[in-house]
Amino acid sequence: MQLDNRRIAVTGGFGALGAATVHAALSAGARVVAIDRTAAPTGGLGQALCLGGVDLADPKAAKEALAAAAQAMGGLDALVNIAGTFRYEALADGTVDTWDLLYRVNLRTAVAASQAALEHLQAGARIINIGAASALKAGAGIGAYTASKSGVMRLTEALAEELKQRDITVNAVLPSILDTAANRADMPKADFARWVKPEQLADVILFLLSPQSCAITGALIPVTGHV
Ligand SMILES: NC(=O)c1ccc[n+]([C@@H]2O[C@H](COP(=O)([O-])OP(=O)(O)OC[C@H]3O[C@@H](n4cnc5c(N)ncnc54)[C@H](OP(=O)(O)O)[C@@H]3O)[C@@H](O)[C@H]2O)c1
Repeated sequence: MQLDNRRIAVTGGFGALGAATVHAALSAGARVVAIDRTAAPTGGLGQALCLGGVDLADPKAAKEALAAAAQAMGGLDALVNIAGTFRYEALADGTVDTWDLLYRVNLRTAVAASQAALEHLQAGARIINIGAASALKAGAGIGAYTASKSGVMRLTEALAEELKQRDITVNAVLPSILDTAANRADMPKADFARWVKPEQLADVILFLLSPQSCAITGALIPVTGHV
């Protein structure tokens, strides 16, 4: 997949999936700005420009970060909304604050970053979100998480319709469990071979960023490996 000189902003770019996506996009010839709340990784991320310390749930911070990304790259062709998190918590044992937290980190960041990107995106541009396969039908302990990811999926569908006339596509990938160090530590007895590697999901994201995906918009694409 070639993304020669495409100018891409990746939120949550310092995390497991974010870093894999940044490296894959750079390898495909793209120019990349990685935006994250946490501090930039020591040694950076290849040739990517790293913008750390940005809370994307704050619309003002998101606007400034996307403007800085567009200025650094001379424009913006795509936004990949990867910032997000997970909590397992049954309602009886939990707090309402968990629902606010997951809404803020998973949905509000994608809304604020997408809105901030809109003024920079032209025809042919791409927005890609990260939903969750588990949000298609919730299970015990993941009500707050799946509600927030359902929001990301509804945002994807609504924004795809809103941007059709501008020839900007908006799609989401729906992972199940990614093969990350955090998940291995949380589930040491699982069969890791069944999980999707961040690099494999990054390949699907690369396709959605590419010109070859121009006919796909509003799609929610499960990427679940053998789980
Ligand atoms: N891992 C899985 O199995 C899995 C499965 C389904 C879906 N997903 C989704 O895939 C995405 C990436 O997952 P991952 O495993 O790569 O997570 P990760 O390693 O924790 O990376 C997420 C990154 O997003 C950042 N972030 C969180 N809130 C932010 C905010 N308000 N503003 C800016 N950056 C923020 C995090 O910073 P902090 O460290 O400061 O929080 C972190 O660097 C998430 O949306 C997640 O929900 C993951």
